Amino acid sequence: MKESLDRQHRLEGDINISEKRVKWQKENLNEDTFSVLKEDEKYFLKQSLSTPCLNVLKGAYGPYIEDLQGRKYLDFHGNNVHQVGFANKFVIDAIKRQLDELSFCTRRYTNRTVVEFAKKLSGLAPGNLNKVLFAPGGAEAVSMAIKLARVYTKRYKIISMWDSFHGATLDTISVGGETVFRQDIGPLMTGVEHVPPPDSYRRFMDIGKPEEWEILWAKYIEYILEKEGDVAAVLSEPVRSTPYVPSKQYWRIIRDACDKHGALLIFDEITHALGRTGRWFTCQNYDVNPDILCVGKGLGGGIFPIAGIIADEKLDVAGRTALDHFTHEKSPVGAAAGLATIKYIEENNLLEHVRNLGKLALKKMNRMLERHMLIGSVSGIGLLLGIEIVRDKKSMEPGLDEAEEIMYRCLSKGLSFKLTMGNILTLTPALVITEEQLMTAFKIIDESIAEVEGG
Ligand SMILES: Cc1ncc(COP(=O)(O)O)c(C=O)c1O
Repeated sequence: MKESLDRQHRLEGDINISEKRVKWQKENLNEDTFSVLKEDEKYFLKQSLSTPCLNVLKGAYGPYIEDLQGRKYLDFHGNNVHQVGFANKFVIDAIKRQLDELSFCTRRYTNRTVVEFAKKLSGLAPGNLNKVLFAPGGAEAVSMAIKLARVYTKRYKIISMWDSFHGATLDTISVGGETVFRQDIGPLMTGVEHVPPPDSYRRFMDIGKPEEWEILWAKYIEYILEKEGDVAAVLSEPVRSTPYVPSKQYWRIIRDACDKHGALLIFDEITHALGRTGRWFTCQNYDVNPDILCVGKGLGGGIFPIAGIIADEKLDVAGRTALDHFTHEKSPVGAAAGLATIKYIEENNLLEHVRNLGKLALKKMNRMLERHMLIGSVSGIGLLLGIEIVRDKKSMEPGLDEAEEIMYRCLSKGLSFKLTMGNILTLTPALVITEEQLMTAFKIIDESIAEVEGG
């Protein structure tokens, strides 16, 4: 019971108040670092997943972060903003040029850069996804998507997934499915129905063959769409960051069911758009187009906070409703950062690079799966990779302590990543990472797992 509750609190990330963290800090941090951590705690509200913080940074460049004590870590988390690496010079130069030209755009006006950016995104997005709105953050983008779906369908119900994350605002935690954001908060947005995510490894009921499991849940979504009859939208990441990588058939069933029952399909690609899965957009791996695509995070080159929705042009029907009223709705600086990010990805063939490294990584992880008794499963698409730690391959009992121990051992060796679901090493390096750097990371993980297995 305690273990299960514990896991519920660790779905989004490793917890910041664990004994293992305190031990790691005592062994690795000096007085100077502790004094900044203390000040942070004095002036910031404490909250799960942030303050009290792990460590203090003084640098972030390429695939690395550097702490106050000058130690470099390959950052395999990076909040998923580091497609083009941290402090990318090409992006910084574009931002500087834009700051000198036009640094802000007052409401009721537009500017050339933001129009060019919207045009570029529409051009890259598949199908009729041609109409854009920008927001300062991902949660606001998801919020706009929900509102647009409501206005267009004249319905309000949303189907979303347990264990999902779509942002930390009241409406987005309502569609999200993680305890740490929902507990103690009180009434959430009405009309949300949660369904199980397509996790074919950890099936919570002994029904169906493993390969049929996700199809059962796709059909369950179809069932709800039919029974409710008035659902506005199904909202999900096409690939959950853990990662859960469903089959093409899964999304095909849900897309067709949405069409049949008059619901929209909203894909939250805030974490993975612009290349993480080896395509501009994750849905392009599935040949399924959503009606609304949410983007964010690395959209501003890992520097400028900008997110948005790219909607099917048929949804351009809300001219009398203010879908958003964000102060930075048409930021020329955010747009310059976004345009430079896309150009950098294009000119450096990063999509192909990600596909190649992703294949290598999966091969490597599958070999590790055979060798290590603590690895229950591995999964990945492009440079979105996961290694699930279990106590025992047969019982599949989640290895919460073991995963945390592995994570801190990796950190001591210069590799930073976060855990999801409490026991999945979730690996999302900068897309500019070299093969050599990637293999260094796997060597660190391999050694650390072996150490924990050895006791
Ligand atoms: C899938 C997904 N959607 C939405 C968000 C929210 O984005 P933001 O933190 O910019 O509000 C996140 C953030 O981690 C996310 O992972």
